Amino acid sequence: MKRISLTQHLVEEQRLNNNIPAELRLLIEVVARACKTISHAVGKGALGEVLGSADTENIQGEVQKKLDVLSNEILLEANEWGGHLAAMASEEMEHIHPIPNRYPKGEYLLLFDPLDGSSNIDVNVSIGTIFSVLKAPDGLGAPTEQDFLQAGSRQVAAGYAVYGPQTILVLTTGHGVNCFTLDREMGSWVLTQRGMQIPEDTKEFAINASNTRHWYPPVTRYVDEMQAGVTGPLKKDFNMRWIASMVADVHRILNRGGVFMYPADAREPEKAGKLRLMYEANPMAFIVEQAGGAATNGQQRILDIQPEKLHQRVAVFLGSKNEVERVTKYHQEA
Ligand code: AHG
Ligand code: MN
Ligand code: MN
Repeated sequence: MKRISLTQHLVEEQRLNNNIPAELRLLIEVVARACKTISHAVGKGALGEVLGSADTENIQGEVQKKLDVLSNEILLEANEWGGHLAAMASEEMEHIHPIPNRYPKGEYLLLFDPLDGSSNIDVNVSIGTIFSVLKAPDGLGAPTEQDFLQAGSRQVAAGYAVYGPQTILVLTTGHGVNCFTLDREMGSWVLTQRGMQIPEDTKEFAINASNTRHWYPPVTRYVDEMQAGVTGPLKKDFNMRWIASMVADVHRILNRGGVFMYPADAREPEKAGKLRLMYEANPMAFIVEQAGGAATNGQQRILDIQPEKLHQRVAVFLGSKNEVERVTKYHQEA
């Protein structure tokens, strides 16, 4: 097999589509390198003393794991000095992180969920990192939180890494979705899947069913119909999977289809959902759409939502197009 590295791929995509200027290429390579470092720490587990709680809380009121904090630091440090960014924002930090004055500034904004699937860290189940890249509207001026509040359709790149049996990196720059596998001996990312496509139809769904009693009627209706199987209105049997790491659930869906749901529910009616628009929903929606799938909040395309707050939450329905359209229709009818 002829091996194509991440760098070669980015250079060739720039030649083809003129969409990855050198600064953006550096940004993506630096993020990929940081993911390699995180993957290494994850792989050490107990031996690296990276498991367990950090005994601190993030802005969402969630107790941070050591790896949440460590991964956040790795991404911040890796991306500060390159001159490609104006600022960063993270699920784990209340405020944006402008590039320190001792470094040159660039025109991109980087957002990340440094460690997705925190509840799986200590039990050796796949976890990951999600990132999203925007352009600073103000060019090189002093960045503010307001600069980050751009609809997901304005992302110039998005990706995620999964630290699982293999470490992989899935990336889009708006011309399809490609997957790279980390060659652990060589330390390099190798292109292993080109032009990933989500099947339009599926017989698999992903939802945390322990919340059934809190769901709103459109979600109950849809899940009931799927569970009714071949004799129900959808006329087929469905299977269910829930990993509790969005990266791993989305990666399965990217490979063999499925519909992933994290709806708003009556547990905390004031919240629009659990997942975060800027760090989770937007980058995943960009990737899923680029792979021929769909992503909505039940009412509208996620990528069309105008964000109002950095840490805003959102309901998420994404994956195989025909099923996402069905559950969105049920919401609109309700
Ligand atoms: P994070 O670890 O970054 O806080 O994200 C966890 C998210 C997502 O990855 C997953 O799909 C979902 O939360 C799991 O939620 P439940 O605990 O309700 O299963
Ligand atoms: Mn997450
Ligand atoms: Mn996280």
